[in-house]
Amino acid sequence: MTELTTAPLRVAREGDPPPPRRHLLAISDLDRNSVDRLLGTATTIARSLDREVKKLPALRGRLVVNLFYESSTRTLSSFDLAAKRLSADTMALRSSGSSVDKGESLKDTALTLAEYDPDVIVIRHPHIGAPQFVANVTHAHIVNAGDGKHQHPTQALLDLYTMREALGRLDGVHVAIVGDVLHSRVARSLIQALALVGARATLVGPPTLIPRGVESLGCEVSTDIADIEAADVVYVLRMQRERMDAGAAYVPSLREYAAEWGVTSQRLRPSQIVMHPGPMNRGVEIAPDVADSAVSLISEQVRSGLVVRMAVLYDLLAGGPGDDARPLEVA
Ligand code: NCD
Repeated sequence: MTELTTAPLRVAREGDPPPPRRHLLAISDLDRNSVDRLLGTATTIARSLDREVKKLPALRGRLVVNLFYESSTRTLSSFDLAAKRLSADTMALRSSGSSVDKGESLKDTALTLAEYDPDVIVIRHPHIGAPQFVANVTHAHIVNAGDGKHQHPTQALLDLYTMREALGRLDGVHVAIVGDVLHSRVARSLIQALALVGARATLVGPPTLIPRGVESLGCEVSTDIADIEAADVVYVLRMQRERMDAGAAYVPSLREYAAEWGVTSQRLRPSQIVMHPGPMNRGVEIAPDVADSAVSLISEQVRSGLVVRMAVLYDLLAGGPGDDARPLEVA
């Protein structure tokens, strides 16, 4: 059996300044080099997961807390498994069933968890800025797992990883992001991440669901569904009904939305690939046969989520850009 090891620890010397505490709150925390480094670590990790023994010792003795104030299937399960596969201890706290139900504030919840000395707190919250707030009141490295409609940086990274695996490159790739951009933190992070790696993004959707001025993030906008044909990747967004103000009519009806904007096989070119961050509204933004077809990378995105989140946790705690960083070595 092959041994899985990491490079030896550099021993800190007396008088060394404490290493800066890094977070992943938004894509703006990253530059091109850090994206390349994270995707490279994810590739190394993916190779290690082909083996019989999938656990790496890299984060033994570390604690990763998952603090989720909104529903999640993929993000929570992948962060939990990512930490476990790196041998860290994990704790998950969901708002429902915790003292949040009894009215405990985010600050008191964060301070309570901070007493366990977590190395990383992964947080999802409906309010923009909640991850930054937790970064201000604890000593942990913070990872934003989605704050309102603001940012979801690890989703964008896993999407870049998935595209690069499928197409062999990111530079010059053209991605059409289709649907409810207005309520989508996934879209905001992905547009910025694509710009960082030299890819091109076109937002496609009804004018009511495209935020005004979004072009300033570095993308083009179209209100013609036929324009998805020009893209290499068609990235479909969920209609986020839970974030739509009651009473505001963003679309006449879901049936009309599906007819006008749904991604169907008739609207795709044969060589295009299709992605969706999940959860899907089958038959609304994406036709079921497209979701299940060979051009769909939706299950690949889930697998990428695990290795990319392992890379992010490793990078924050043991890797990173500094001189004493240890690139992950898998023997
Ligand atoms: C996304 C989210 O929560 O922002 N889902 C996810 O993380 N896979 C997208 C969505 O909810 O539509």
